[in-house]
Amino acid sequence: MLINTPPCISTIVRIGALLVFLLTCGSYFLPHTYEVLPVFDIQILRAANLTSTSSTFNASVVEFWQDLASALLAATPQCKPLKVLKEHLHPEDTHFDPLETDRKAPDRLVDFTDQDETALFRAHYAMRTSAQHLAPRLPFAAGTTGIVTTANRKYMPVLLVSLRMLRRTGCNLPVQVFIDDWDTYDAPTCDILLPSLNARCVIISEIYSQGNNAELKLPEHYQYKILAILFSSFEHVLFLDSDAFPAYDPSVLFTTAPYTTHGLVTWPDYFALTVSPHYYHIASIPPEPVSTRFSTESGQILLRKSLHRESLLMMLYYNYFGPEYYYPLLCQGSHGAGDKETFVQAALAVGLPYYQVRTAPVALGRWWNGTYRGVGIAQADPGTDMEYLAPYPNAAHKTPHWENQDALVDNNLNRTRPRPFFLHQNTLKLFPHSLLLNPSDVTFKPDGTPQRMWGVKDDLEKLMGYDVEHRLWDVITEEACRWEEKGGDDEDDEDQEEARKERETCKRIREYVAQVFGVEGEHGPALATNIS
Ligand SMILES: *[C@@H]1O[C@H](CO)[C@@H](O)[C@H](O)[C@H]1NC(C)=O
Ligand SMILES: *[C@@H]1O[C@H](CO)[C@@H](O)[C@H](O)[C@H]1NC(C)=O
Ligand SMILES: *[C@@H]1O[C@H](CO)[C@@H](O)[C@H](O)[C@H]1NC(C)=O
Ligand SMILES: *[C@@H]1O[C@H](CO)[C@@H](O)[C@H](O)[C@H]1NC(C)=O
Repeated sequence: MLINTPPCISTIVRIGALLVFLLTCGSYFLPHTYEVLPVFDIQILRAANLTSTSSTFNASVVEFWQDLASALLAATPQCKPLKVLKEHLHPEDTHFDPLETDRKAPDRLVDFTDQDETALFRAHYAMRTSAQHLAPRLPFAAGTTGIVTTANRKYMPVLLVSLRMLRRTGCNLPVQVFIDDWDTYDAPTCDILLPSLNARCVIISEIYSQGNNAELKLPEHYQYKILAILFSSFEHVLFLDSDAFPAYDPSVLFTTAPYTTHGLVTWPDYFALTVSPHYYHIASIPPEPVSTRFSTESGQILLRKSLHRESLLMMLYYNYFGPEYYYPLLCQGSHGAGDKETFVQAALAVGLPYYQVRTAPVALGRWWNGTYRGVGIAQADPGTDMEYLAPYPNAAHKTPHWENQDALVDNNLNRTRPRPFFLHQNTLKLFPHSLLLNPSDVTFKPDGTPQRMWGVKDDLEKLMGYDVEHRLWDVITEEACRWEEKGGDDEDDEDQEEARKERETCKRIREYVAQVFGVEGEHGPALATNIS
C-alpha cells in the first residue's frame, strides 16, 4: 500500500484542527472577500495584514518542514556536481518520434564514474525511504481545491493578466500566489488588489527559513514551483506558471478523469525525452523508452496531494538537488532544462500513476515576413484527450489522431479532437508596460500596421470556440488602465512620472485594441467578471 492514511486522530484534535483551519483559511469561504472592498475597509485590511496571515504556518507544518529539510540534507549525493557536454543536443535527439522504438537516449554526462553513480544511488535510496516515512505527515487541508502560482515583483504584472483571464472563465477557485520574501512583497498588490480577485500572497521565506538548518540552500529560480505546491494548503492543486492561463473554467478538471484516476496530470513539450540512462539505475526503476512520450512542459500541472504524497517529496528532492545533479541527469541540456522532467520521474520513482496529455502542444503565434514566430504554447484539454484516446502512432497507423476510415472499426467513434485548454504565453511576455513598443513584434505587420498576434480570427474561433485573443486584449487593457480607478493626484515627482507612464501604456493599448478589434474592444463583452 503506497497511500498511507494517518492513524486515528482523536476527536478533540480534529475539532481543534477544524477551528484553526476555519480561523486561518475560513476567510476564503466568506463571500465579502470576493468583492472589491469599499475604501473605508482598506485601512482595516492593512491592519489585518492578509499576507502575514496567509504566510503563517502552524507548528505541525513547521515541524514537518524541519524533518523534511533534515531528510533532504541527509540524502545529499556524496559526489561532485554533474556536468553535461557543452555543445547543443543534436536535433535528432530532441525530435520526438514514437515510431523509433529502438532509439537510445543520449548519454551526455561528462566524467561520470561508477562511483558517482553509486553515490547518487545511495542518496536516492535514502530520500526514497525518508519520503515513505514522512508521507503520512504531509500537511494539507483535506478536501480543499485551489490554484497555485509563483511570482516575484517583476512578474506580478504578467500574473495579474493571467489571473484576470482565469476569472473571466467564471472560475472562482482560491489562488495562492507564492512570492520569494518580504522584499518582493508589495502591500497594495498583495493585500488589496489580489484579494479582490480571490487570491492571496504567501511569503515562501516565512516557512522556508524555519527549516532550522544552516546548511539548507536558499531556493533559486526553478525551485520555487515545487515549494509553492508543497507549502500551499490545498489538497487538490492546479499549478500555473505566472504566464499561463486557462481558456475555459478549469474547475471541472478536478472532478473528472484523468485527474480523478491518476492524481498527477502533466502536459507535453515539443521535444523528446533526454533523460540520462544513468537516472534509471540511480532510481532503481526500469527505463522509460524515449519513444514513450514527449518530455514535459511544466507551465501547468495538476496534483492531488493525498495520492501523490511520496511523489511530491521526491519532486522536491529532484529540484532541491536540481542544479547540481538532477537537472543535468533528467534533461542533459535539452530545451528549457530545469524542473520540467522532475514531476513525472518522481511519480515513476515511487510507483504512482501519472497521466501526460498525448495531444501535442500547438504553437501560438503567426507567420511574420517569411518565418513562423511563436509567442506561446497551447495545451490540450486533458478530459477530451483521454476520451479521444489518441492512437499511439505505430507501423499500422502512423498518425497520432483518428482518421475517417478508423471510424469503421467503431461506429460510435465520432469524437472531436481535444482543443487547447491552457495558453502559456511564454515567449512574448504580457507585460502591459512593454507590450507594443517593438515594431518587429508579431503584434505588427512588417509594414508597421497593428495586427493580432495569434493569427486570423476565424481560425482561432474554430480552434477555441471563441475569440480568446480578443478577450485577452480586453484583460490587458483592464490591467493597463487600472490606474483610472485609483484616481487622486500623487504629490511625489517620482509618482507623477510613474503616473505619466501608466497613462501612456493605457493609451497605447487602447489604440491598438481599437484598431485591431474594433471599438467594442475598449470595454468588451465582460464574461463572468462578477465572481462572487
Ligand atoms: C496545520 O496546518 C495544516 C495545513 O494547513 C493542517 O492540515 C493541520 O490540520 C494544521 N494542524 C493543526 C494542529 O492545526
Ligand atoms: C505585513 O507584515 C509584514 C511582516 O510583519 C511586514 O513586512 C509588512 O510590511 C506588513 N504589511 C503592511 C501593509 O503593514
Ligand atoms: C458525427 O458527427 C456529425 C457532426 O456532429 C454528425 O452529423 C454525424 O451524424 C455523427 N455520426 C455518427 C456516426 O454519430
Ligand atoms: C523581411 O524580410 C526581407 C527578406 O529577408 C528583409 O529584406 C526585410 O528587411 C524584412 N523586413 C522586416 C520589416 O524585417
